[in-house]
Amino acid sequence: MTVMMPQRHRAAAKKPMWIIVLLSMVCVVLIGTYVFPPRRYSKCYLFASSVCTPFKDWLPSMGQRERTDEEIISSVVIRDILSMPMPVSKNPKIALMFLTPGSLPFESLWEKFLQGHEGRYSIYVHASREKPVHTSSLFAGRDIHSDAVVWGLISMIDAEKRLLANALEDVDNQFFVLLSDSCVPLHSFDYVYNYLMGTNISFIDCFKDPGPHGTGRYSIEMFPEIDERDFRKGAQWFAVTRRHALMILADSLYYKKFKLYCKPAEGRNCIADEHYLPTLFNMVDPGGISNWSVTHVDWSEGKWHPRSYSAADVTYDLLKNITAIDENFHVTSDEKKLVMQKPCLWNGSKRPCYLFARKFNPEALDNLLKLFTSYTSV
Ligand SMILES: *[C@@H]1O[C@H](CO)[C@@H](O)[C@H](O)[C@H]1NC(C)=O
Ligand SMILES: *[C@@H]1O[C@H](CO)[C@@H](O)[C@H](O)[C@H]1NC(C)=O
Ligand SMILES: *[C@@H]1O[C@H](CO)[C@@H](O)[C@H](O)[C@H]1NC(C)=O
Ligand SMILES: *[C@@H]1O[C@H](CO)[C@@H](O)[C@H](O)[C@H]1NC(C)=O
Repeated sequence: MTVMMPQRHRAAAKKPMWIIVLLSMVCVVLIGTYVFPPRRYSKCYLFASSVCTPFKDWLPSMGQRERTDEEIISSVVIRDILSMPMPVSKNPKIALMFLTPGSLPFESLWEKFLQGHEGRYSIYVHASREKPVHTSSLFAGRDIHSDAVVWGLISMIDAEKRLLANALEDVDNQFFVLLSDSCVPLHSFDYVYNYLMGTNISFIDCFKDPGPHGTGRYSIEMFPEIDERDFRKGAQWFAVTRRHALMILADSLYYKKFKLYCKPAEGRNCIADEHYLPTLFNMVDPGGISNWSVTHVDWSEGKWHPRSYSAADVTYDLLKNITAIDENFHVTSDEKKLVMQKPCLWNGSKRPCYLFARKFNPEALDNLLKLFTSYTSV
């Protein structure tokens, strides 16, 4: 018995050694695969695809940085706004938010559009250059004024946020439509109201443009928080749900970033107007937006500015043609001039895309008033 004891001791001492050696080897293999991932997964760094997604979180943070406090705050606030229940209104209204340099040439047309629908809409006017003179009583007293706002610069987004904040004060406002002074309605009020209220997506234009008017304006120095693949373009004229209106107000991170890189001297080249909201929504709630704007505009002339309709252009045929469009087009600004054409899907079925149109010259008013009843009767 005294001889057996040391032998048992030696066997017991050997076992942990083997376990330690085995565990170390497993660790070396694991660390090895972590630092040098198998080549077939490496392309996940370059191309996000559904195949790569499961490995995304697992991969080492090559080129990834730790998030700043501001990024964490922004992401939790936006996440919770997207998932929390919204207040229910017994008397839902649409907020028509006019962003204009001064007076609105089409007040009488809007009055015709709104007649008989009191209590189902609210009007807000943000005049950036001069105090508007109102011709319609529906618009009188609806101004939000600011001396500090200069038309055409990033402050356009400041103006949009001020409009949203004022409109959000009224809990009955459920849909928020941004309109310009050159915008006109294309349908009856009931049609527009039901189109917007019958869906819970926001109508924000959004597409990927690899050309100089799109990702060509992107640089990693400008937006370290934004992956180049997430950078998007789209028209600034939106119609958003209450949830998304709140979300736009809650975002300070990306807003500040875009504001920083707006070059006031370049005026129209301010990248914020056409990139801030499409990029933000593409990152945080891509399935929650339509990817087209409900405000029609004609870029087919290929100029710096879209086509402007004169009085002579405004005919029943023109307006009927615009209201009948049920597919949206996007063209890239690179040499390929790639055309993307998609059906406008409303709650899953194809429907006309547009509720409003721009740009109409002020002298087109009389023709629009004359034709309004006929072109808006479906
Ligand atoms: C949307 O589509 C669903 C399923 O087709 C239907 O049940 C629902 O009533 C539609 N909603 C509206 C507002 O038309
Ligand atoms: C819209 O409503 C549908 C069902 O009614 C829901 O599945 C979907 O998540 C909602 N989308 C948003 C963006 O709230
Ligand atoms: C808008 O585009 C995104 C991808 O860019 C897509 O996930 C989303 O489903 C689209 N929205 C609709 C309503 O189709
Ligand atoms: C309306 O559309 C038709 C058919 O596409 C076209 O022939 C006509 O020129 C258009 N009219 C106007 C005024 O745009």
